[in-house]
Amino acid sequence: EKGGYEHYMLKEIFEQPEAIRNAIRGRVDVERGTAILSGLGLSPRELVEFQRLLIVGCGTSLNAGLVGEYAVEDFAAMLGEVEQAAEFRYRNPIVGSKDLVVAVSQSGETADTLAAVREAIDKGAMVAGLVNVVGSTIAREAGRGVYLHAGPEISVASTKAFTCQVAVLLLVALKLARGRRMSREVGMGIAGEVLRVPELVEKVLESNAAIADVASHFVGYEHMFYIGRGYLFPVALEGALKIKEISYIHAEAYNAAELKHGPIALLDEKMPVVALLNRGPGQEKTVGNVEECRARKAPVLGVITEGDAEAKAACDRVIEVPECSHYIATIVSTVALQLFAYHVARLRGCAIDQPRNLAKSVTVE
Ligand code: M6R
Repeated sequence: EKGGYEHYMLKEIFEQPEAIRNAIRGRVDVERGTAILSGLGLSPRELVEFQRLLIVGCGTSLNAGLVGEYAVEDFAAMLGEVEQAAEFRYRNPIVGSKDLVVAVSQSGETADTLAAVREAIDKGAMVAGLVNVVGSTIAREAGRGVYLHAGPEISVASTKAFTCQVAVLLLVALKLARGRRMSREVGMGIAGEVLRVPELVEKVLESNAAIADVASHFVGYEHMFYIGRGYLFPVALEGALKIKEISYIHAEAYNAAELKHGPIALLDEKMPVVALLNRGPGQEKTVGNVEECRARKAPVLGVITEGDAEAKAACDRVIEVPECSHYIATIVSTVALQLFAYHVARLRGCAIDQPRNLAKSVTVE
């Protein structure tokens, strides 16, 4: 049942190229530079009239949602917002008919996300589910949406759901952008990049042994920082969540710019820093932050673009991932961090598929 893999988590990490292929199949129109998401049921007029894309979710689905927020602002110049579903639900949110609300959930059964869906519907918003499990409560109650088609995710630590969620959220952002003011040419570029994702992920998986070797140098720490900027900040959040869940190492994620506003006080040789350094806007600034970390003796692991000599020189160790657009790097770098967390946990002897205190779906508030 685990297909020869030692754990479901590893099996599902390796299923990602296929899962993403299924998630984007029939949904990318390269010719017209747009996405086909008929489950959303949005008319051309609605695409223009929405004032905000509001994304709600919990845990990994929340982290994927943050990529969606960045993408909708970047691609569609439309207001994007992401909110933890319970926070949204309990603070009498301002939401209404000008909002498209997307509820992101692998299981479709998360209690807080379901409550947020009900709240948004009550307040007159248009609500769509971005759900993996077909026929689940959120999928049914949202009434419209996009299924992930990632296949069953058994591992408590979510992996393939995240990468499929991000791929589909990029398509949602592309669709909104093309319905508004993005040119066909620019849309074609993005569509083409999304189609490359499965292959890029395959390349990262080929580095599994190298990543396991890197991981062996981080097994003995009890704390870690993850830093990234822009699109790579959600990746830092997701990387830190994975290591916490399965290896029980205390990890915190920061926007790299935030380091010097306090957290830097914690840095010393016992606090390794995982830095997301794929080429992209602000990279030189993150390299500067890495230098500040090393000046305080913190060991730095960089996730860098293949062949980026400058980034490599700035770090103690690196994991190299293939070159791609910065919004696609969210997926590619996350896969590297999934494998990193997996191997750290394995080498620490943790029960990866049965992490303590966790259940696959959180169906109580
Ligand atoms: O099924 P959902 O996507 O709604 O679940 C949300 C979270 O409970 C889930 O992502 C959780 O954080 C995972 N254990 C993360 O690996």
